[in-house]
Amino acid sequence: MKIRLILLTVVCALAVGPGAFAAEPETELGNKMDKMGSAFRALRRQAGDATKNADSLAKIAAIKEAAIASAKLEPVKKKDLPAADQKKFVADYQAKMKEFIALVEKVEAAFKANNNAEAEKLIGQMADAQKAGHKEFQKKKDKK
Ligand code: HEM
Repeated sequence: MKIRLILLTVVCALAVGPGAFAAEPETELGNKMDKMGSAFRALRRQAGDATKNADSLAKIAAIKEAAIASAKLEPVKKKDLPAADQKKFVADYQAKMKEFIALVEKVEAAFKANNNAEAEKLIGQMADAQKAGHKEFQKKKDKK
């Protein structure tokens, strides 16, 4: 009896598939963003500490790499828009991501110059760009 119950559970789980267990479908852009997120969290904590500049430069390099890859991808929100608006939406997103990469390069230069005050100021602008970028281009989470 027990075995039958276990078998039934396994069969049901296989039939429904992994999608039923994931809160949100993963996207390639989401994965790049997650990489950016963990590097950025650490960077914000240590940006003012000049003894950590070598590591801060490594974090910035990881953010830059993920941002360059992100600029070649398309937000999932595109599919929710009317066909006529999709092209402009993607072009706007890519332009904003390129602006963001330019900002990341400024932060890189500040760390290279050991100018931590400037780096911290520019990191504040990165956080602003993140907020604005998400407001405009990230699909709103479905309310359950
Ligand atoms: C410091 C800067 C940024 C950080 C740390 C960051 C981090 C994140 C994180 C953690 C997610 C959720 C990923 C997931 O779904 O698992 C996300 C999603 C997203 N972010 Fe960012 N982000 C940053 C900047 C930006 C900028 C500047 C833009 C746009 C120009 C942007 C556009 C998006 C979009 C469109 C998504 C949804 C992913 C999709 O459509 O597949 N992000 N971001």
